[in-house]
Amino acid sequence: RKRISVSTLNKMKQQGQKFSSLTAYDASFAKLFDDQGVHVLLIGDSLGNVVQGLDDTLGVTVQDIAYHTRCVRVATASALVVADLPFMSYATPEQACENAAVLMRAGAQMVKLEGGEWVCDTIRTLVERSVPVCAHIGLMPQSVHVMGGYKVQGKSQEDAERILREAKAVEAAGAQLLVIECVSQKVAKAVTEALSIPVIGIGAGPDTDGQVLVMHDMFGISAGHIPKFSKNFLIEAADMQSAVSRFVSDVAEGRFPAAEHSFD
Ligand code: KIV
Ligand code: NA
Repeated sequence: RKRISVSTLNKMKQQGQKFSSLTAYDASFAKLFDDQGVHVLLIGDSLGNVVQGLDDTLGVTVQDIAYHTRCVRVATASALVVADLPFMSYATPEQACENAAVLMRAGAQMVKLEGGEWVCDTIRTLVERSVPVCAHIGLMPQSVHVMGGYKVQGKSQEDAERILREAKAVEAAGAQLLVIECVSQKVAKAVTEALSIPVIGIGAGPDTDGQVLVMHDMFGISAGHIPKFSKNFLIEAADMQSAVSRFVSDVAEGRFPAAEHSFD
């Protein structure tokens, strides 16, 4: 099997084929997801929540992400492997380069970072130095203490316009993929239509090019609160393989997310 690349996802966007993504942190689940055809595996700093039991993602280090990236990469043959740059690991373009190198050497094919206009210099610097970048806008969990909680973003006209501006800015800076988290269906649709790079939504309605879920939410086993936009795919499945296969086909055929998982 050939590994999925950013060109594969671009082609899928152009052809209107929806793709799926899950977080993964270890070899066994990574292989299971890869075997079921999940297109993108993300070593998210959500591992702070679901693996380390923290109540935010700020305690996660570059070494933590690198360890889990190694575990995921060796176990997969097809999926695109994307690793999160954690809190404060890309405060300057120099730090971003140093830390992205650690993640790329650990097996990441792309790194993801949170932010709008302020990260554009960093994105440019990374891409010029051959590190592909996925940007992440909307709800940015690393900013939880600045935002004062996890809230749906882009509710006012002004915020919705700012998010669209940020999306265009990160694309212009060279980001090749974009995650948009916890925004109204309308905002996510506008962003997806405005950009030529693929857009992956989480809590962003059905109109993005791809969908991502935290794997523990998808199996309904998260220790903490399970967000409204998630769905427990294990309820109607006989085993984990069929739950994941159902997630992939529900995304491909536009059955997930439904209205009940979206914000308007
Ligand atoms: O850390 C994470 O799992 C993420 C996804 C939810 C997009 O950033
Ligand atoms: Na993350």
